[in-house]
Formats: sequence, C-alpha cells, structure tokens
Amino acid sequence: MVGVALSRWTMSYFAAAVMALIAAEAVMLAGIGYPQAPIAAPESLLLVHLVAIGWLSLLMCGALFQFVPVLVVRPLHSDTLPLPTLGLLVAGLAALLLGFAQLGGIVQTPFAFLPAAAILLGAGFTLVLWNLGRTLWAARPLPLPARFVVGGLCSLAATVLFGVIFALVLGGVATVPHLVDVATFGLPIHVIAGLGGWLTFTAIGVSYRLLAMFMLAPELEGRTTRGALYLGAAALAAVIVGGAAAICLAGNVMTAVAIGGLLGVACLVLYGRDIVHLYRARKRRVVELNSRMAAVALANLAATVALGIVLMAAGRFTDHVGVVVFLVGFAWLTGFGLAKLYKIVAFLTWLECYGPVLGKTATPRVQDLVTESRAQKWFVLYFVAVWIAAAALLLAQPWLFRSAAGAMLFATVSIGVELMRTRRLANVAPNLRLPKGVRPPHLLHSSVQLG
Ligand code: HEM
Repeated sequence: MVGVALSRWTMSYFAAAVMALIAAEAVMLAGIGYPQAPIAAPESLLLVHLVAIGWLSLLMCGALFQFVPVLVVRPLHSDTLPLPTLGLLVAGLAALLLGFAQLGGIVQTPFAFLPAAAILLGAGFTLVLWNLGRTLWAARPLPLPARFVVGGLCSLAATVLFGVIFALVLGGVATVPHLVDVATFGLPIHVIAGLGGWLTFTAIGVSYRLLAMFMLAPELEGRTTRGALYLGAAALAAVIVGGAAAICLAGNVMTAVAIGGLLGVACLVLYGRDIVHLYRARKRRVVELNSRMAAVALANLAATVALGIVLMAAGRFTDHVGVVVFLVGFAWLTGFGLAKLYKIVAFLTWLECYGPVLGKTATPRVQDLVTESRAQKWFVLYFVAVWIAAAALLLAQPWLFRSAAGAMLFATVSIGVELMRTRRLANVAPNLRLPKGVRPPHLLHSSVQLG
C-alpha cells in the first residue's frame, strides 16, 4: 500500500453499509418481506435492495475507492467525488425503498418515489463508474485482478440500467413498449448482472489480491486465473448481451441464462482451484481470522452452486430460488464482506495512525488492533445462523427463519462493535496506543497521505 493515498471517505461507506445490513436483518427478524410475503412482493423488493444496494454495493464501492488505486498503483481519479456520490446513493436508496413501500400501500403520499430513485441511483452509480473507470483507464495495461473489476463494473452498469428502466416503468413514467418488454422479461438479467457480475465477479477479482496479500501467498497470473476471467466474462456477456438481444428480438431470455450458467460454473471451478492453491501456497502459517472466515464464505459459495445444480436437476429451482438468492447474499457475499471488512478496517486504521511514524518510534502491529478470539465467536454465530435460516427457508419454517435472523442480527451488531473498537484503537495496549506524533483516527473519514 506504500505510495498510495488512503481513500478519504471509505470508512463512511463502510459505516453506512453496516447500518444497512443491521437494518435489513432487523426487517427479516420483524417478519417483513420474503419468506412471510411472496418473493416478488414490494416488501421483499424493499428487503432485497436494502441488502443489495445499502449493504453490499456501498461496501463494495467503499472498498474499491481504496483498493483500485492499490491494484493499479495509481491515485484515484477524484478523491472528492466519493462524498457527493455517497449522498446520491443513500438518497436514491431511500427513494427506492419508499417507492417499494408505496407499491405495497404502506406509504400513501402521491410523490413519485420510484422515478426519483431512478434519477438519484442512476446519477450516483454513474459517478462511481466514472471515477473508477477513469482510474482504471489511465492505468492500462491492467493486471489480472483489475480486469475482474472491469467485468464487475460493466455488470454494475447493466444492473443499474435495467433497474432504472424497471423503476421508471413501475413508477408509470415509461410507457414505450420496448421498455415495458424490458421490465417484463429483464428481471433475470438484472438479478444475475447484480449478484453474479457486479458483486460476485468483483469480489473474486478482489479476493485474488487480498487473500495473497493477507496470507503472504504468491500472486496468481497463470492459465487457471486467465481461464476464470475469460469464462466469467463470457458468462456475463451471454446473460447480459445475449439476454438483452433476446428481449429485443422476441427470443427466449432463459436460453441466454442457461448458457451463461454453464460458463459461470466452469469459471467458478477454475476459481476454486486457484483459491485452494492460494491457501496451500501461503507463507503465513497461522491463518488469521479474516482468511479463515473468508474460507467459510468461499465454501458456502461452492455449496450454494451445488445446491442450485441439485435443485435444477430435480426440477425444483423455481420453487426455491429465494433460498439460492438468500445464500448468495448472506452465506457468500455478506460472509466474505464481513470477514474482509474485519481485516481492512484494522489495516487502514493502522496505516493511517502508525504509517507516518513507522521506524521513528515503537508502534503496534496490525494484529494488535484486533481481538480475534472475541470476534471469532460472532463470526461463528453469524454463519451457523445463516445455515439455520437457509434450512428454515427450504423446509418452509418462517418462525425458525425469524429466530435465525435474530441471531444474525445479534452477531452482526457484535461484529460492528468490534469494528468500532478497532477504529477507536481500544484493543491496543495503552502504552503503545498513541506514541508522539500519532493522532487518534476519526471514526468516519481518513486523512493521511502515505509517501
Ligand atoms: C446494484 C445492485 C442491485 C442488485 C444486486 C439488485 C437485485 C435485485 C433483485 C434480486 C431483484 C428481484 C427481487 C425480487 O423479486 O424479490 C430486483 C428487482 C428490482 N430491482 Fe434491483 N438490484 C440492484 C440495483 C437496482 C437499482 C439501482 C434499481 C433502481 C434504480 C433497482 C430496481 C429494481 C426494481 C424496480 C425491481 C423490481 C422489478 C420487478 O419486479 O418488475 N435495482 N433487483
């Protein structure tokens, strides 16, 4: 990370993201949305976007503003844009949630919330794409992990474009037949581009670098990694470009989805081989909590793919699509996100506080900013609760699901408290905490240039 500035607003993105996750788990505990309501009900849409945009997308954006410059060893195109971008995304999310509440008859004002959400979220995500896109464009030729990020960002553009069209059609603003067709047939493209392309493909790219960095393993650039990149990109192109073409030409979107699914599974097989290799080739003998919990999340991803294949073979996929989406969102993406967040917050806080005085005075190690034995309990509780919740969905036991959601909420709040303690340097021995020249970090933004 030396030579790269700390992203000023990344901590604000992380804080907003964790609050959205806590809110979403509280909504599940309260029994609002799926499985208490049908998966396509407005309450379920509200819950899905609180997780997909509020938690996962804000987390990913905050991480990428810090991480893309590290990947390409160049400064972020603009360090001032992320704050207004965050404002647009949060306002847009609020409008989208209110729009869904309006569809469900929970909110009764006549204000056009869905079209407002389309404008605000469209603008916010365009700024994300502009800022990261300019940073990546200036750094060509790109290293492999950055190419995964490019694939993820193209998928984000497609997700947002479809989402904006849906919102305009549902909000009654767009009535052109072509757009109504997109809203009628485009949902699988929106979902796969969002969960599979933007969130999973980007996380895969980031994981190659972060796992190698935090476990001291060699960077992978070989045939399997290239294969994963090309197969994944082909899978996403099949679903997004092929699916859009099918809608325009009155073809079958599900053919494009099936081809994309096969290519996607082949991509994940190669990725799995790479990850096993990374864990085996690591130089750090003692695997830290973040890498252990990331391994659980990766195993969950493999199990989710296997479950999807079994359900498809049994002809039951459509009945249980909600379980698969739940597992992708919570067992894989949220598990991986929380595990990496635990390390990244410690690492960035350490760099911010002690980077400037390194070598000049005694400083703590990154690991001194965390108490892994305490945090491990909360991660274990989180994962066990997610597995129970998934089983409850498969067995149609809504009460069990709500209890498990309560346990997920408790575990997440506890992990949130651990993150605050790290940021506050509360785990560092008092004699090492604030040597001369070190200022305590601000909770929500960072302010140091590393030379
Ligand atoms: C950024 C990542 C996003 C992800 C991962 C995502 C995911 C999803 C999922 C899984 C559904 C289906 C939910 C269900 O049937 O219960 C959905 C539907 C929908 N999404 Fe998104 N979404 C994202 C962004 C957006 C954005 C930015 C907008 C609006 C500007 C949007 C608007 C909608 C609408 C209106 C629907 C309902 C479509 C219908 O039922 O006709 N989404 N999204």
